[in-house]
Amino acid sequence: MDLYDRVQDAARTIRQVAPDAPQVAIIPGTGLDGILDRIDREHVVPFEDIPGFGDTTATTHRAELIFGQLGGKSVVATGGRHHVYEGYSLEDVTFPTRVLRALGADTLIISNAAGGMNPHYEPGGIMLIEDHINLMGVNPLIGPHDERLGPMFPDMCEPYSKRLLDLAERVALEEGIRVHQGVYVAVTGPNLETRAEYRFLRAAGADCVGMSTVPEVIVGVQVGFEILGLSCVTDLCLPDALEPANIDRIIHTAQQAAPQLMRLVERVVAEA
Ligand code: HPA
Repeated sequence: MDLYDRVQDAARTIRQVAPDAPQVAIIPGTGLDGILDRIDREHVVPFEDIPGFGDTTATTHRAELIFGQLGGKSVVATGGRHHVYEGYSLEDVTFPTRVLRALGADTLIISNAAGGMNPHYEPGGIMLIEDHINLMGVNPLIGPHDERLGPMFPDMCEPYSKRLLDLAERVALEEGIRVHQGVYVAVTGPNLETRAEYRFLRAAGADCVGMSTVPEVIVGVQVGFEILGLSCVTDLCLPDALEPANIDRIIHTAQQAAPQLMRLVERVVAEA
């Protein structure tokens, strides 16, 4: 089966359990995964029941699609996500994005934990992704083109919706949540960056660095999603004052930022 047919096949399987089209799709990263518990659940579909959602025995603990109500909207969220650094192909990583769109969602909210390279940022802060740089060295759209998947050369002048950025800024102001707007650069990982790499990435124009999101956004643009991306700044990566990264502390910082991030996203969903 070609990719388009596999996407349709997965969507068909999911609709047998969750027949109604969701309005908003959410792909939460570290720091936003608690939003899964805020959804008033109507249906849960384990990844293992969905053809093409891959072997999920790896690191993800909640490998399921969650359907329900959040902020008065019908939403679908992914519990569990594949990363390039785990050995998944970019087609695997972005397959759920295609399926979420095929189910009828037109808004995509996607988040990640990221290292902050902008010296004005603070650990636990939130960056609204205004633009991105793909430095993964690969692209999820490479392959034989099938026009049913979307345009062959998707335009990237506004991958992150200005309308949703403005909405998120307004909500953040009203809620008293400090947010930055900046550029996210994606690398494959899994090692963290060297000081020379941070210097290079910063000079290239990036404010945050991480190992996800960009593949899903590239595919999200191809399939016509209106996209909001958010980074939870878990640690500062300043090349001239770099300390060893502490993964436990990174996760702890993400958990501290989680309530604000969830409040922000929930209100954006309600008003999007
Ligand atoms: N690089 C550095 N620090 C980080 C990252 C990263 O990819 N993700 C979270 N903190």
